[in-house]
Amino acid sequence: MRSTKFLVFTLVLLLAIPSVLWAKEAKTIDELVEMYNDAKCKQCHPKQYEEWQQSYHSKAVVSSLKGMRNFYAIGVPKEWERKLTKVEVLKCLDCHAPVVNYASEELAVKIAEMIIKAKDTKDEKEKKALLKELSKLNVGCLACHNIKATSISKGLLGEPEKDAIYTPNMVISPVHKTIPVNTMNKSLFCAQCHGRYIAPDGEQIMCNTLSGSYYNNYISRGGAETCQDCHMKKANRGHKFPGGHDLEIVKEGIGFNAEIKGVKHTVGKWIPRAIVQVELENRSGHRIPDG
Ligand code: HEC
Ligand code: HEC
Ligand code: HEC
Ligand code: HEC
Ligand code: HEC
Repeated sequence: MRSTKFLVFTLVLLLAIPSVLWAKEAKTIDELVEMYNDAKCKQCHPKQYEEWQQSYHSKAVVSSLKGMRNFYAIGVPKEWERKLTKVEVLKCLDCHAPVVNYASEELAVKIAEMIIKAKDTKDEKEKKALLKELSKLNVGCLACHNIKATSISKGLLGEPEKDAIYTPNMVISPVHKTIPVNTMNKSLFCAQCHGRYIAPDGEQIMCNTLSGSYYNNYISRGGAETCQDCHMKKANRGHKFPGGHDLEIVKEGIGFNAEIKGVKHTVGKWIPRAIVQVELENRSGHRIPDG
């Protein structure tokens, strides 16, 4: 009798603990960052960490501040005449800082207000402090290796497990829970953010349409490489994720054929001139530039 009671008690406890953990919502940015702490990864994966720091994923809020400020300060309240809520805030931050999914309603709104303030304030000290806080929000290690790792196959894989690290390789770490998945090496994994976003209220956000052109103009014409092939595996790019801001990959994307003809024109007197005929060819896996 006692042992069944104990069993029931432990079962209830076991069921209760994860749901309590799951329901936990962060009330401050530091709490939020602590829930998905990337700083921990640095000590054992310094290469990936340093490369990621050079990438736009590591500054995905502060580098897009102006657009977000306009959306939160003008788009939502003035154009749509709607209240700023977590659902509205996530219309940008679900991709630019996925951890915000785990923020409380109040914190999500506060983050949007900080974005507006950071852009609008004339007080340099206040601006600096706000930017420092906001720079903690980005597309971090766990945004990809946990939060967004299962979403393209949710039916099969379910919600991500809180403390697990997902990887596309058959590698099990001796120090942390590792779950190999066949989602992260697919283009669709990148496309969930590099494409159209459908919000819970049905609204569609087209921040960038690059994935559409990848599928319609590249894959449909026989292109076989994935986003990861070109942006990570090639040229040892790893976690640097170079794109339009990186000259080396930009050169790779544009075939440059120039033909120079020397001619002379008469405009009053002889002036030597050259006619340069330039042909540009897109060799990347999608339309360029994006935006
Ligand atoms: C105490 C050291 C340690 C910490 C901290 C740590 N890892 Fe690991 N991780 C390992 C080891 C050891 C492996 C096994 C494979 C290896 O040696 O690279 C591994 C494997 C992985 C893999 C799979 C590697 C592959 O080849 O597919 C990923 C992804 C990963 N870790 C991500 C992370 C992330 C993200 C964090 C931070 C949240 C993190 N790790 C924190 C030690 C660590
Ligand atoms: C579906 C995911 C997604 C959503 C939702 C989203 N973005 Fe983006 N955003 C991206 C990606 C991915 C890029 C990088 C695109 C590129 O460089 O091709 C980007 C780029 C940007 C840039 C340009 C950054 C730069 O460095 O040039 C701005 C500004 C921006 N987004 C603002 C917003 C705003 C404002 C919202 C909300 C209304 C929003 N985004 C919603 C994914 C998203
Ligand atoms: C934008 C998504 C994204 C982010 C952000 C990201 N990763 Fe990865 N990571 C991947 C993908 C995709 C792979 C598989 C790459 C491949 O197939 O070559 C990977 C592979 C890895 C591996 C296996 C070894 C390797 O380099 O291929 C480790 C370890 C790793 N990531 C750690 C990290 C750490 C640590 C961070 C944060 C500093 C991080 N990742 C941030 C998407 C991401
Ligand atoms: C959680 C959403 C998310 C995922 C998943 C994601 N990205 Fe991004 N990525 C972004 C955002 C947001 C930006 C733009 C950051 C900014 O500049 O504000 C970006 C920027 C980039 C850039 C730099 C663009 C530039 O203009 O320089 C490249 C390249 C890139 N991502 C490739 C990838 C690839 C490849 C994958 C898949 C392995 C991937 N991303 C997965 C959200 C994501
Ligand atoms: C065949 C190789 C190839 C494939 C496949 C590919 N890319 Fe690219 N991508 C490039 C090259 C090359 C560039 C640089 C060209 C440029 O921006 O001028 C680039 C640029 C980008 C940029 C920066 C665009 C800008 O205007 O700033 C982003 C973001 C990006 N790619 C994401 C992706 C995503 C996401 C996928 C998969 C859906 C993908 N790429 C598939 C080669 C590729």
